[in-house]
Amino acid sequence: MNKRAEPGAISTVDLEQAAFWMPFTANRQFKKTPRLLARAEGMYYWTPEGRQVLDGTSGLWCVNAGHCRPRIVEAVQKQVAQMDFAPTFQMGHPVAFEFAERLARIAPGGFSRVFFTNSGSESADTALKIALAYHRARGEAQRIRLIGRQRGYHGVNFGGMSVGGIGANRKAFGPGVAAVDHIAHTHDLQRNAFSRGQPQAGAEFADDLERICTLHDPSTIAAVIVEPVAGSAGVLVPPQGYLQRLREICNRHGILLIFDEVITGFGRLGQPFASQRFGVLPDLFTTAKGMTNGTVPMGAVFAKDSIYDTFMDAPEGIELFHGYTYSGHPLACAAGIATLDTYAEEGLLTRAGSLEKIFEERIHSLKGERHVVDVRNCGLMGAVELEPRAGKPGARAYETFLKVFEAGVLVRWTGDILAFSPPLIVESAQIERIFDTVREALKTVD
Ligand SMILES: Cc1ncc(COP(=O)(O)O)c(C=O)c1O
Repeated sequence: MNKRAEPGAISTVDLEQAAFWMPFTANRQFKKTPRLLARAEGMYYWTPEGRQVLDGTSGLWCVNAGHCRPRIVEAVQKQVAQMDFAPTFQMGHPVAFEFAERLARIAPGGFSRVFFTNSGSESADTALKIALAYHRARGEAQRIRLIGRQRGYHGVNFGGMSVGGIGANRKAFGPGVAAVDHIAHTHDLQRNAFSRGQPQAGAEFADDLERICTLHDPSTIAAVIVEPVAGSAGVLVPPQGYLQRLREICNRHGILLIFDEVITGFGRLGQPFASQRFGVLPDLFTTAKGMTNGTVPMGAVFAKDSIYDTFMDAPEGIELFHGYTYSGHPLACAAGIATLDTYAEEGLLTRAGSLEKIFEERIHSLKGERHVVDVRNCGLMGAVELEPRAGKPGARAYETFLKVFEAGVLVRWTGDILAFSPPLIVESAQIERIFDTVREALKTVD
């Protein structure tokens, strides 16, 4: 019997044969026991059966202002009725120019140029290409090497995958782009387990970049890309002094430093961007996710003025042969402007700072619970790492995630780590509920 779904009639039975090839998902497992979300508002999702679920992950690290915010919904509706699409290749439209201006205003000083993309992956690849082209424009075409970090995540396109440092995301896809290497990650459970905020030990992990420079000759290296706080690999907070040291080494060798702020951007760490929180400026930084509050796909690369100016020094003509049909899409820009308005009206770009201590107290109250080998946090970003079950890596965290979801809270799991990043509108009682639910679940997971 054909069990395929009739349009508009998705049921559990239909899902086993569903056409949707789901991303980063165990399709067969999911389709047997699906978890569907059908509606959202503020801090909550609702399942198709009407069960309310507290969102402990901002969807997928992106819905920073909470769900279905009226101002953003209205702006998108209005824009789609007024002008659905306009090209930005050799043409333009006012909404894209306005949004770029607004973004530049909240960026650190000296970052007044914004290149639009449609996702974090595209932002990563765009930043890497800008870095290569920048060196070439300055007569240093030999700088072709791109350096990432173990456990880094920069999306799934070829550039981002190649500098990425999560093995599972790479192994099925061949060697990736040439001339890539990786510095060591900073996760050090022996010295830093249960650190609150930035771990004390480990600034010297940055010196691994010197090793790479010696190995390859620094004059062949174009850029180093890191997430200020690694997100997808399980919230790895930079040790004190680490980012400063990375910056110094890049300066010494003329290497561009790229921060991937796809998760940390737009208030996650209590400042608009992580560079402002940590007091370390990159040369380029990538964003996406919170940029439109997750409503319309969009990303951007912010470039230091001197980088943009280098391109503008070239003879008249197209300065960068790069862009996407949907770079600066009107709907995304309208959503983005309304998102920035919402952030400003409610002080959301700094609100994580005032909630950080409460969040820290609550998440660290899980220290001592069964299986918990580490708890870490920064801003409204945190993780609880579990001891892996013998021979079954990831199983324990997955089961905990399921129990937490059944109890009405959405968190994220990756390997044996549970990750938390609630919308920045979260209240302290909701923070408490998230971690109390995890505590209860851990009691019943073997
Ligand atoms: C740091 C970082 N870079 C890039 C990406 C990729 O973004 P997208 O999934 O929008 O392509 C992500 C996604 O989680 C991310 O966390």
